[in-house]
Amino acid sequence: MANLTVTQTNNATSGQTDFLPLHGTDYVEFYVGNAKQAAHFYMSAFGFQALAYAGPETGMKDRVSYVVRQHKLTFMLTTPLRTENEIADHIYKHGDGVKTLALSVDDATQAWEETTKRGASNHMKPLRTNDAEGEVVVSGIKTYGDTIHLFIERKNYTGVFMPGFKAWNNPHYKPEDTGLLYVDHCVGNVGWNQMNVWVKFYEDVMGFNNILTFDDEDISTEYSALMSKVMSSGNGYVKFPINEPAEGKKKSQVEEYLEFYNGEGVQHVALATNDIVKTVSALMSRGVEFLKVPTSYYDDLTDRVGHIDEDLEPLKELGILVDRDNEGYLLQLFSKPVEDRPTLFFEIIQRKGAKSFGKGNFKALFEAIEREQEARGNL
Ligand code: FE2
Repeated sequence: MANLTVTQTNNATSGQTDFLPLHGTDYVEFYVGNAKQAAHFYMSAFGFQALAYAGPETGMKDRVSYVVRQHKLTFMLTTPLRTENEIADHIYKHGDGVKTLALSVDDATQAWEETTKRGASNHMKPLRTNDAEGEVVVSGIKTYGDTIHLFIERKNYTGVFMPGFKAWNNPHYKPEDTGLLYVDHCVGNVGWNQMNVWVKFYEDVMGFNNILTFDDEDISTEYSALMSKVMSSGNGYVKFPINEPAEGKKKSQVEEYLEFYNGEGVQHVALATNDIVKTVSALMSRGVEFLKVPTSYYDDLTDRVGHIDEDLEPLKELGILVDRDNEGYLLQLFSKPVEDRPTLFFEIIQRKGAKSFGKGNFKALFEAIEREQEARGNL
């Protein structure tokens, strides 16, 4: 979890006190068909380390969860042990995907009270759990689709993860990290005409601000379009862009997602690095597959983005995209979906001043996605 110390911040647009100060993403939980193998994938391919485990051996009878970590990035892989189980239902409906975006707070009780009194649906009332290492308080609310936000208060806890988990490590397997540091942003795909509904949810219920808007003119190719609004927590530590499909000649990537995920859900999680060339080289050599843009993308790159510190050749070789805004530039690259359904994928991002999301790359990126959709017969 982020070791950030801001506890009270001002809401950027209204000047009001932030009623839901968030320290960042505590962890991302994935419901998957086989958590043991998924955990191994994130360790072997993405460079995470084993951290904690919960299952029948720790008193959790209906599921197992493996927790892996890399720097401030924590993933939990959870699988059901029985058929009559809400996790099993989730996987039957959606395939593997993100269930929980857990957010780090100082006071999980207050976070639950502030959000539910503003209209959030309850997922879980504040629950205190203890062990010899102290106390963790967890509460939760529902967001789009079957996705949830948990509020995690762990200021009085010194254990490895949280009560109910035991330390998990394998002295014989310590894969080298790939330089992934923390969650930069998490994007949700919602249904037709639902973007503004969820924008209002994040504004009203969680005190977020709409910091950027992309309409279907910004995000369109010859064939398909989508719209997106970026929601940011008051202090900017948590950013949730929300996408909805827009009318185009053919089926957009958001529609393909909604069809195969069988509803709304998390489209991609963006993972930050300080050295994207090194990180992407490591990920590729360990089997992670990325979208490719045509090499012509690089022909006029410096005309479009101006001077950048990086050599062009490795960027071109790895297919890394570059975009500039008023404050600087960013480098980014998008993985192919990490499961067989064309649903969740990852973005690798290195920010060099830029606070935006790569608008200048949308067209090239979406054309690359469309080539994949076409190959699947889903365009
Ligand atoms: Fe992104």
